[in-house]
Order: sequence, then structure tokens, then C-alpha cells
Amino acid sequence: MLRAPPQAPRASRRPPPPRCSPAAAGPPPPPPSAGGIRRLVLTPEGRAKLDARPDRDFYAFPRLVKHVDDGFLAALTDLYRDRLRPGWDVLDLMSSWVSHLPPELTLRRVVGHGLNAQELAKNPRLDYFFVKDLNKEQQLELETSSFDAVLCTVSVQYLQSPEKVFAEIFRVLKPGGVCIVSFSNRMFYEKAIGAWREGTAYSRVQLVTQYFQCVDGFTQPEVVRKLPSDAAGGKPASPLDAVMRLFGMAGSSDPFYAVISYRNFKPM
Ligand SMILES: C[S@@+](CC[C@H](N)C(=O)[O-])C[C@H]1O[C@@H](n2cnc3c(N)ncnc32)[C@H](O)[C@@H]1O
Repeated sequence: MLRAPPQAPRASRRPPPPRCSPAAAGPPPPPPSAGGIRRLVLTPEGRAKLDARPDRDFYAFPRLVKHVDDGFLAALTDLYRDRLRPGWDVLDLMSSWVSHLPPELTLRRVVGHGLNAQELAKNPRLDYFFVKDLNKEQQLELETSSFDAVLCTVSVQYLQSPEKVFAEIFRVLKPGGVCIVSFSNRMFYEKAIGAWREGTAYSRVQLVTQYFQCVDGFTQPEVVRKLPSDAAGGKPASPLDAVMRLFGMAGSSDPFYAVISYRNFKPM
């Protein structure tokens, strides 16, 4: 014999719990706001530097040197040739006396940022520059949606609050604007963050990819790699390189990595 199911208590005045059918779920939750930080990528140890003194002290004297070899720089300039367009407004973040831009590329405005005013003053591509320690404060005094491209060359490993810096990069980019972050395996070891120092080439690419992904509204990052074996098979980077190769003395070229992402056009 079938029994009647037990009766629910009657006196409850609470509204019934929401049902799970899509029709009853109501409107979807509001999307996270574009440019917002979704999550933190680094742990406190991952952000730590061996040399905890202020970065401005470390960069107090100008270093008018190349931080990577000619093969790397040729790959970088070629990438800029491919991705940047004449007439653009460009921000060179964490810059120095050289921006590695193709000499034939005429831009509307190039703004430079770094930690050493003497280095930046020597950079012939900059129309304007400013000095700011991004490990002290991440906000950029630059207009929202005002740049077609933001570049960051061989420097991302020094950022201790990359999530906030990448949110600022997103803010200053125009919709559709591109950010190109390039790096190799060289670094000022004591000034690089723990997550970078302890990492491998693969994990560093992953780290920069996550810096983009943690900000809502960047497109899926794209990775460009040129490893020394590719470089050896390609064009010599300089006449000296060509001569060295002739005598079988070609030094191994610095590996080239770039992670590229765009500020999405779509409303988020
Ligand atoms: C290895 S150099 C690279 C310079 C330049 N991008 C180039 O391609 O030659 C690293 C640069 O990172 C910048 N930098 C390092 N720590 C920084 C910080 N805390 N805030 C802002 N910039 C920083 C300095 O301006 C320094 O010139």
C-alpha cells in the first residue's frame, strides 16, 4: 500500500527557497567590471626581493647599456614592426635610454616611464617622460583610454604588484590597444621578485600570462618565443655575429619571449 508522504510543517512564513530552474533564477549576476582585478597572482613570498632597499636607490645612477643582446633586440624591433602602426600613441613603461622601436615608424606620441631621469632624457624616441616607482604606487597619472600600445621591455620581473600595474595598463589603453611585454633570462637577480627568480622560462611565460588574465577585459594572451636555436638558424643579428658564425664562434643568443594581449573591444 502506498503511504502519503509526510506533511511539511505548516506554520513557516519564510518564502520558499529559490528554485534552480533557469527560468526561476532571475537575471544573471552582473559581469565583473572591465579592468577590475579578478584575483591576485602572487603570494607574499612570490613578491619579495632579496634586496629590499628602495628601487630608486638601485637605479640612482644611469646605466646606458643594452640589457640583452643584439639577437633579442632585433626580434623585439621586428615584433614592434609587425604590431605597431604609424600615428599611434605609445607608452614605454619601465623604459630607459632606448625604446627599440623601428626607426622608420613615425608615431604620434611616445611617453616614457622609468626610474632614472638621466636615462630617459637620453632616449631620442620619447616626447615626454616621467619617473615613478611602481613598487611604491601603481597609479599612472595618464588619461584613461589614451594609448594604442603599452610596451614593457626586459623589466616585468621587477614588479611587486603586477596585478595593479596591469590593471593600470588596461585603463590607459584604448579599446583594441595592445600591450607587449618582452623578457629574456637575464635579470638583476637581487631585484627580481621571488616568483621570477625561482622560476623557469616556462613558468615566467605563465606568470606574465596570468598578469594579463587576472585583469578583467584583456584578450587571451599570445606568446611569441624565439629560442637560441631559432636565432642560430636565422639571419645574423649583426655583422660581428656573421663573422663569429663564419668561424664557428657564434655566442648563444638571449632567448626571446613576448606575451601580448589586447584591451578587448567587447563590453564586459
Ligand atoms: C633592465 S632595465 C630595462 C630598461 C629598458 N626597458 C630597456 O629595454 O633597456 C629595467 C628598468 O626597469 C625599471 N624599473 C625597475 N624597477 C622599477 C620600479 N620599481 N618602478 C618603476 N620602474 C622600475 C627601470 O627604469 C629600469 O630601467
